[in-house]
Amino acid sequence: MSAGLPLEPSEVELRRLFDDVVRRVVAHVGTLSDQPADGSAGAAALARALIEREAPEEGSPSGPLLDLLFEKAIPASFNNAGPGFLAYIPGGGQPYAAVADLISAAVNRYVGVFAPAPALVQLETNVVRWFARAVGYPESAGGFLTSGGSLANFSAVVAARHEKLSEDFLRGTLYVSDQGHHCIRKAAHLAGFPAANVRKIPSDGAFRVRLDALAVRVAEDRAAGFTPFLVVASAGTTNTGAVDDLDALADFAGREDLWLHTDAAYGGFFALTARGRAAMGGLARADSIVLDPHKGLFMPYGTGSLLVKDPAALRRSHSVSAHYMPGMQDDPDSVDFCEISPELSRNFRGLEVWFAVELCGLAAFRKALDEKLDLAREAVDAVRAIPDMTIVAEPQLSLFAFRLAPPGASAEDANRLNRELMARVNARQRVLLTGTVLGDVFALRMCILNFRTHADRVHMAIEDLRAAAREVGGNNPGLERIS
Ligand SMILES: Cc1ncc(COP(=O)(O)O)c(C=O)c1O
Repeated sequence: MSAGLPLEPSEVELRRLFDDVVRRVVAHVGTLSDQPADGSAGAAALARALIEREAPEEGSPSGPLLDLLFEKAIPASFNNAGPGFLAYIPGGGQPYAAVADLISAAVNRYVGVFAPAPALVQLETNVVRWFARAVGYPESAGGFLTSGGSLANFSAVVAARHEKLSEDFLRGTLYVSDQGHHCIRKAAHLAGFPAANVRKIPSDGAFRVRLDALAVRVAEDRAAGFTPFLVVASAGTTNTGAVDDLDALADFAGREDLWLHTDAAYGGFFALTARGRAAMGGLARADSIVLDPHKGLFMPYGTGSLLVKDPAALRRSHSVSAHYMPGMQDDPDSVDFCEISPELSRNFRGLEVWFAVELCGLAAFRKALDEKLDLAREAVDAVRAIPDMTIVAEPQLSLFAFRLAPPGASAEDANRLNRELMARVNARQRVLLTGTVLGDVFALRMCILNFRTHADRVHMAIEDLRAAAREVGGNNPGLERIS
């Protein structure tokens, strides 16, 4: 007889498994702040050891499987749910959302279409409406939740293509700054555009798209027989957190009859705060906006969203019917997600957001985001005070970039020095930073977005940066020692 579990567990078996999992999850989440910021050293060997695992013919007990996960595989990774994760774009992983995920997977109701689960679909539709209100969209706006920002940006490009171009669209051109996220290029590629139709527009000293260069390029393209149709603005770039001039872009797009899409995957939820709204003035003027709840609303990975001012545009670009499908809704308040998005069957991702927001209240999220804005300002001033440190990009939201620039160091030496600085900070395992290349300059970035990151962790980051800066100064003869 197999030592594993039957496909249909008894209540006792199911409860025992849940209890064991809950115990381990609670212990894991409770110790996130004590776990190293990056446990991935040696993890490739573990991954290789797992390659040979075949699907077993007979099941096995849950204990060793959960041990493999909780004692080996999970610790052997970035602790991106922990407070020290200041790399890339943090998210966090709200535990209430995890509970909602368990509920939605366990009850497994069908939410791709309205008719099979109207009340559940309505909860997700409410979430979309909350987001639309947060960015200042009118009540008539709509949208849907996706698996993430990349898919949401893809649907935005498809909607824009459908609204602004004919089916023969290969002369259509779209515009994004040289700081825009690379998923925009991927979205254009998947939407059928040749790579060369994505025009990369240079950015200014604050890493915002240059409107003069955009206007010139659009005019040149029209003169050459192309059809400009879409401008993609950024409300918080991944590189430096830059927010484009959204008002000026809306004016320009209006004059030129272009669809304006704003990728606010990182920055968008700061619209819940007064300072965020001010930094992203003009956000609501875009035709469509991407927000990533798995970034700025701290949800687990797998929750993105696309908001569209005119939801009929989504229906026109995404709706395809079939006889075997149930009837779709005519009432604009009752949404069939399959009609306005690429997916049919899908997980009930809206429940995560709904549950966490209902339990904690929007004010708690607002407060946490305000705290991140404060922490970024505090952190940038402390970094600035480190000798020979230069701020490459000031925080427009909660992300900034910086580097050591010792007098007399060659560009190559300075880049090497900064890579070493980052490695030494990360080796301390209290925080994890990542870098980027701006022009030919390597800079470190600090992105403060995790709801678990508070002042104590930012102080650790500064302490470690100061100490590492002293060390690399001393270890690089020829460069002035940093005291
Ligand atoms: C500004 C921006 N846009 C889009 C994306 C892509 O989002 P996702 O990773 O959820 O697909 C990211 C990811 O970090 C991002 O920072």
